[in-house]
Amino acid sequence: MAAAYVRNREHLEPWDPVRAESFFTEAGQAVEVGRQLEDRERDKRHTFVLWHGPDVAGRIAIDNVARGVLQSATLGYWVDHEHLRRGLATALVEHAVVAGRALGLHRLEAGTRPHNEASQAVLRRAGFQEYGRAERFLFIRGEWTDHVLFQRILHDEPLGNPQTGNRVGGS
Ligand SMILES: CC(C)(COP(=O)(O)OP(=O)(O)OC[C@H]1O[C@@H](n2cnc3c(N)ncnc32)[C@H](O)[C@@H]1OP(=O)(O)O)[C@@H](O)C(=O)NCCC(=O)NCCS
Repeated sequence: MAAAYVRNREHLEPWDPVRAESFFTEAGQAVEVGRQLEDRERDKRHTFVLWHGPDVAGRIAIDNVARGVLQSATLGYWVDHEHLRRGLATALVEHAVVAGRALGLHRLEAGTRPHNEASQAVLRRAGFQEYGRAERFLFIRGEWTDHVLFQRILHDEPLGNPQTGNRVGGS
């Protein structure tokens, strides 16, 4: 992970929060991955890594899982700058849709900065619909930035249906 984040530092910089230097080290990534594993246990965040041989070539996270009557989560993803325009981000988002359904989620949401045309195209290709625009939505690179919001409804089964694995508890 550390090597992938070093390789992709400039590529990801415009879209990511400001990272501490430790984020780009093996020790820093050991801490990050440990957090991801804990979050998976707590059903808060489910992270998937795309491999190219021994290298990490991308990542997607189903994050901010909200249960109860919402059954919703947000997506965050990136693909290595050497592997762009091969449909990999679309495949990652489609994978998250399948995983989200298996987790019993009803809806996935993703927000993109207004000029992130690549990410918007990926979401449209993966069946997401634009449903709004939120002003001063996320703190990216030192400012509260507007975002275009997309969602995909995963199913219309009732809450608590064992067939969709809905977990009613939690929040
Ligand atoms: C956005 C990102 C994940 C796209 O990854 P990708 O693997 O290249 O995407 P795909 O190959 O699945 O692209 C699918 C379609 O999106 C569109 N697209 C992709 N990159 C594009 C670009 N730079 N400009 C315009 N359209 C683009 C194209 O329509 C493309 O289909 P095509 O190649 O057949 O024309 C990648 O550019 C990235 O990692 N960006 C930085 C991080 C980021 O923005 N993450 C999302 C935050 S919301």
